[in-house]
Amino acid sequence: MAKKILVTGGTGYIGSHTVVELQQNGFEVVVIDNLANSSQKIIELIARISGKRPLFEKIDMTDKVLLDDFFLRHRGIEGVIHFAAFKAVGESVEKPLKYYHNNLVSLINLLECMTGMGANARLVFSSSCTVYGEPDQLPLTEKAPVKKAMSPYGNTKKISEEMIHDIAGRTPLQAISLRYFNPIGAHESALLGELPLGVPNNLVPFITQTAIGIRDQLRVFGNDYNTPDGTCIRDYIHVSDLAKAHVVALKRMLDHQNEAPHEVFNLGTGTGYSVLEAIASFEKTSGVALKWTFDERRPGDVEQLRADTTLANLRLGWKAEKGLDEMMDSAWKWEQNLAAGILND
Ligand code: WQD
Repeated sequence: MAKKILVTGGTGYIGSHTVVELQQNGFEVVVIDNLANSSQKIIELIARISGKRPLFEKIDMTDKVLLDDFFLRHRGIEGVIHFAAFKAVGESVEKPLKYYHNNLVSLINLLECMTGMGANARLVFSSSCTVYGEPDQLPLTEKAPVKKAMSPYGNTKKISEEMIHDIAGRTPLQAISLRYFNPIGAHESALLGELPLGVPNNLVPFITQTAIGIRDQLRVFGNDYNTPDGTCIRDYIHVSDLAKAHVVALKRMLDHQNEAPHEVFNLGTGTGYSVLEAIASFEKTSGVALKWTFDERRPGDVEQLRADTTLANLRLGWKAEKGLDEMMDSAWKWEQNLAAGILND
């Protein structure tokens, strides 16, 4: 009998890729999403890849009555992977209350619903390297100090981890928080990928939208950082490698392998690339000459981020496999599919 797993935010970028990986690992998946930042069409695309259409319910997790009703109707859930949250750093600075309310009330409601799951209360939480703020040293291990968040978005991730930690220590809840570095790329089928609504904040969707002609040119935010080519360095990780890590983390708890009620793992590749290196990789793999120009630094950007992935490698037995070129190539193929109307038909 397939184990039933709830994926909140499962029509989102990382969520949808994780749903496919779960299905391909034999799990039965139920998705809830308020579609604030995604499209229900994603459910069909997931089904085209996996051959299985996950159950889907449009639910706003800040509505406790709706969430209670969902859990009453879906007994037998053996784990939850929680992605549902707003994640635009800039918007969180403009509208902090929107972020604190949505991201924290959603999690509190979920945790309250999970108190009724007993031993099945297993939670994989979507966290972020943003909790480290400006790193003191690199690469970043899980022992690096969690600092004052760089944005209300980052603070919601920090507070969420702290809430999970306190509750896991005093209730049957078992949890694993996964701190993502920079997720990029798209599914190898080019049927799933990042779906930025409006002007992209992040580098890679801005690159692909520039290359496809939606944006005029890419602005590179700053070329006077203390890095080899003067541009910021990030640890880019393929979204499919990230999705695989969520399944491994879930299985770790299902198999009672976790060594504490709440564990935390960095998910990166351990390799950092600069903005200019990312652009070069895109141009090489796509064959498209990208139009870009240097601009001022973006407030809040940290100079360098790179993960020490030793703990995830050793304890999860997980390691990122895909390189930067494959990340860029997959992102470009997805952008071309979007332009071809894959979401419209
Ligand atoms: C990467 C680099 C920019 C856009 C953010 C969030 C983080 C996580 C991942 C959710 C930086 C430069 C970008 C552009 C540019 N999100 N850049 N021109 O800021 O590292 O991380 O997304 O969890 O929490 O903070 O990613 O892709 O925005 O920027 O030069 O048009 O690309 O300055 O150096 P970031 P990013």
